[in-house]
Amino acid sequence: MDMNPHESSLAERMRRLTQCGPGTPMGELLRRFWHPIATVETVGKGEAKPIRVMGEDLTLYRGDSGRAYLVGGHCAHRRTLLHTGWVQGEKLRCIYHGWRFDGDGQCDEAPAEGAAVAARTRIPGYALREYCGLIFAYMGAGEAPEFDLPRKAAFERPGLMVLARKQVWPCNWFQMVENSLDAVHVSFVHLAGKVGPFGEAVTASVPELEYLETEAGVRQIATRSKTNVRVSDWSFPNNNHIVTPGRTKDSAWVHRGVWNVPVDDTHTMKIGVYASPSEGPESDRDTLAHFKTYGDYNPAEHHDALFHRGEWPEDPSLQLTPAQDYVAIMGQGEIADRTLERLGKSDAGIVLLRRIFWREMESLKSGAPLKEWRRLAEAVDLPAPRAAE
Ligand code: FES
Ligand SMILES: [Fe+2]
Repeated sequence: MDMNPHESSLAERMRRLTQCGPGTPMGELLRRFWHPIATVETVGKGEAKPIRVMGEDLTLYRGDSGRAYLVGGHCAHRRTLLHTGWVQGEKLRCIYHGWRFDGDGQCDEAPAEGAAVAARTRIPGYALREYCGLIFAYMGAGEAPEFDLPRKAAFERPGLMVLARKQVWPCNWFQMVENSLDAVHVSFVHLAGKVGPFGEAVTASVPELEYLETEAGVRQIATRSKTNVRVSDWSFPNNNHIVTPGRTKDSAWVHRGVWNVPVDDTHTMKIGVYASPSEGPESDRDTLAHFKTYGDYNPAEHHDALFHRGEWPEDPSLQLTPAQDYVAIMGQGEIADRTLERLGKSDAGIVLLRRIFWREMESLKSGAPLKEWRRLAEAVDLPAPRAAE
């Protein structure tokens, strides 16, 4: 890593939080975990798509068996893009001179070169796992860890409609993660433009805050009154599990798991699961139709409307909430300059979060054992605040 000896250590420490590329301290730490990288519909059988994750250009393809694979984006030979080639069985053949790669990235045919060249040619190949409509990848070295931390009992209960969605925002991933541990923002940001059911339920009062490090990550408890307590269960390194109001006033609250996965240092994939309790066939059809109509909304595509024209989207749950967060988070800049901040006592969650990341990056650097993050032994109850009571 290039280090400027005159750079202040504060700036350097802050910068470390934001870098995701291979070989950076954070990039290496993040590669120790499973990350969702696409929704399952992104590639059909026999299709290949280009995809960028943590600064790496990759190819996501699905073999004829239906199994998905993630390999390097460029061919080892003369570097053309592999997704423009052909999926053949479970393998991928390059468009340019026909070199063929298996799902682990091993070349097994180089038609104009011969077997010896193929045998010693490899591109990256990463383990994948499908869960709740999302494709997860493990991009680290060695064996992938058990697929445990991303799982939540709340997404696996019977009688749920589990829907997946994804959007990319043009800013650094870490400010999006910090927003998850900033409970005060809800009392302001989610009242901006117009007040949706989320803002209504939470109210504008400023909460008492509590942050606890758990075996999975950080539990955040924001208490606004006896009946208005909001708990969220954040998992290391980038997942937030929360509950938010459903489609209508009478709908049950929805469990959401949202991951902020770096595409690169200035783009972040906000990708997640929306688990809505089934409320009968008619209501489920409406929920699905609602999701189909509004679920693809990405505030980044409405940047000027939000920033310069004060135009807020129509749907209060699937559109307004992310639009409000987008305005606050993008307003911090592409990569927030944390050396200019004035943190206060309400930023306890952000301070704890940074300390945990610095601690883990330090352990990785010195060869000390990392914390063994694991799924909570008991699923935490995430109450739905009832501000009106
Ligand atoms: S560039 Fe892929 S085979 Fe030549
Ligand atoms: Fe928010």
